[in-house]
Formats: sequence, C-alpha cells, structure tokens
Amino acid sequence: MNAERSGAMLTLREGTATHHRRAEQHEFQRQFVRGTLPKLLYVRWLAQMLQIHAALESHLDRVVTRNPALRAVFDDGRRKVPGLRHDLAFLGGDAAGPVLPAAGALIARMDDLAAGRPMALLGVFYVLEGSTNGSKFIARKVRPAYALPTTGEGSAYLDPYGDMQPARWQEFKTAVDALALPPDQVDQLVAAAQATFDAIHDLGGELLAESTGAAA
Ligand code: HEM
Repeated sequence: MNAERSGAMLTLREGTATHHRRAEQHEFQRQFVRGTLPKLLYVRWLAQMLQIHAALESHLDRVVTRNPALRAVFDDGRRKVPGLRHDLAFLGGDAAGPVLPAAGALIARMDDLAAGRPMALLGVFYVLEGSTNGSKFIARKVRPAYALPTTGEGSAYLDPYGDMQPARWQEFKTAVDALALPPDQVDQLVAAAQATFDAIHDLGGELLAESTGAAA
C-alpha cells in the first residue's frame, strides 16, 4: 500500500476522483461551463466563494506562521480574496450577503480543522487551488456570456494566473509533495478534500434552488 503512495498529490487526486466528477457534472457547473449560467447566479456564487476563501486564508495565515515551510504551498500570490473582491466590485455584487448552508458548513468544518488538525486545511486548499485547472476554461465561456472584458475584470477569480496557470499548478503539486507528509496526515487531507468537493457540489444546488425559488 505504501509503495503506491508516491506522493500526497497522487493520493489526493485518486482519493477524490469520484468527488471531482460529481462536482464537475452538477447542473450548476454544466451551465457554468456552457456559459448559460445566469449572471446573477455567477455573482452570488462569487460572494459565497469569497466567504469560503476569506475563512480559509485567515486559517492558512496562522498555519504558515506556525510552520513557515508551508510558505512554499501558500504564499500571497495564491490568495483569492483580492480577486474575488475586485470581481464583485466590478459586477456590483454584494460581498457581505448571507452565507448559504453548504458554504457555512464548509466554513464550520475549517474552523474545526484549524482547532484540531490544522494541516488538513491543505486538503481544502488543494480542491480550491486545483479548481483553477477547470475554471480557466470556464472563464473563456463566462467572459463572452456576461460581456466581461478579456483583460480579466469580473473574471479574476476564475482565471487568477492567466498563462502561468499550468506552471503554478505544477509548482503547487511539487511543493505539497515536498512536504513529505506522513500517511495519516495525507488521509486527513483527503477527507477534508472530499468534504470540500461535496460542499462546492451542494453549494451549486443551493444557488440553483434559490434562483428557482426567486423566479417562482
Ligand atoms: C465544469 C466544471 C469543471 C471542469 C470542466 C473541470 C476540469 C478540470 C480539468 C481539465 C482538470 C485538469 C486535469 C488534469 O490536468 O489532470 C481539473 C483538475 C482539477 N479540478 Fe476540475 N473541473 C471542473 C470543476 C471543478 C470543481 C467544481 C472543482 C472543485 C470544487 C474542481 C477541482 C479540481 C481539482 C482539485 C483538480 C486537480 C486534480 C488533480 O489532483 O490533478 N474542478 N479539472
């Protein structure tokens, strides 16, 4: 078993593959990647992601302060809060609206992890950082759909690294593997990552339900 575990990133990828598929195939993501998601839902989604990232980044700041080696994994260049705030300001969205249940549950879970198993927060971060792989494609659909400029205003969160995305993802993978985390910690990352995928999946459902309710 251990011989197969040739790195935390491989274990994370394999341990969350079905969760990724389920999140990716959700109706919300389908509409998103087709460019048919209503703009109002895009803006509401950004506001929820802002709350999630704000919580995650403040936890990660504390974890990095205690363990400076983690700076290689989470540095200022990987912060998503500034881009989310710019997107919301550009789109006229409310950055401080109510947190939906799936986002609130994920934030509560992060608080628990921070108190008891802070390294597992890297599992949450893995999912959100890894989502830049797919969201770069989504950005290409979203910009024409919402008449957003190709210079990035309004879509900074979806495409935070531009042409550097593949290189930044590779750097992230290398940095996580270089931590050489023990298997029990990797298992904690996987569990946190699975829960994060599920939370993002559920959040899509809540946003769709909210808009259907609002339209009814
Ligand atoms: C329409 C929706 C989505 C599409 C088209 C998509 C597509 C992709 C693609 C093409 C990759 C790169 C695969 C590779 O190079 O090996 C990827 C990786 C990844 N995506 Fe998605 N994705 C979507 C939704 C999501 C969502 C909603 C999340 C998180 C909540 C997510 C998290 C990740 C992660 C963590 C990885 C890295 C997997 C690894 O460890 O290699 N994706 N996705």
